[in-house]
Amino acid sequence: MQIHPRIADLRAALKGRGRIAFVPTMGNLHAGHLSLMREARAHGDTVVASIFVNRLQFGPNEDFDQYPRTFEADCEKLAAAGVDLLFAPTEAELYPEPQEYVVEPPAIQHLLDGEFRPGHFRGVATVVLKLFNVVQPQVALFGKKDYQQLLVIRGMTRQLALPIDIVGGETVRADDGLALSSRNGYLSPAERQEATRLYRELSRIRDAIRAGETDYAGLERAAVAALDGAGWKTDYVAVRQQSDLRPPTGPERALVVLAASRLGATRLIDNIEI
Ligand code: PAJ
Repeated sequence: MQIHPRIADLRAALKGRGRIAFVPTMGNLHAGHLSLMREARAHGDTVVASIFVNRLQFGPNEDFDQYPRTFEADCEKLAAAGVDLLFAPTEAELYPEPQEYVVEPPAIQHLLDGEFRPGHFRGVATVVLKLFNVVQPQVALFGKKDYQQLLVIRGMTRQLALPIDIVGGETVRADDGLALSSRNGYLSPAERQEATRLYRELSRIRDAIRAGETDYAGLERAAVAALDGAGWKTDYVAVRQQSDLRPPTGPERALVVLAASRLGATRLIDNIEI
């Protein structure tokens, strides 16, 4: 696997490489990331990954400085997963001057996670557009684990007419159901055990809706009460339309239930399509 910290070198190395499939990440890679890498193989001749912890998408009181950086181990995993090239720029390379031209996503950026992480999706969209311009892929893969992020990227790609197919990958979970996340590493052993409650509550809501329940607000309230009663601090549990993350307007819509909640100092998100 080639490793390129510089934009110019990566571009030179990508000339004549055929169809490029791209998976952007912030590193500290786990099986969720690696399943996207393997899926990428099926979509392109050349698989490119990136590792860049993007300051723009972290709030002032968030975990940018703490965010786990495990570059050597990540490189081994990427090579083993069949990635051809890794783009791993420094901040000075990707942001040589303050990034003042930004992508301002529409109202979806203020829903759900956007309400609790102001500016987050602007930072994500901006870095992803910049990475797209560097790598110039024909296809890019994003996990459904970050459902709202996937929708923001799809919307940006469509409305700005980027010639890139966006593919969503299924969420990879631990055996007990917890969605894999770099932030799971912040959990104490006791918290790690408790953390499965988030997926259980989301599963309960999915099952109830499948069984015909339509009192979404009641289901949301019960899940928040169960989580907070077990010591969590819940930002939201929300039943939404898959297409735009707005509250359901009719019974026939494809739905997704999403949640964000803090266990101790760790903020976890998860979702299940219904
Ligand atoms: P990061 O959190 O490193 O995630 C990189 C990609 O892996 C994202 O598309 C994310 O949705 C996916 N992913 C994470 N956990 C997953 C899981 N358990 N199963 C399946 N896919 C999973 O998301 C980001 O980085 C950043 O916001 C980024 C898009 C790189 C922009 O900075």
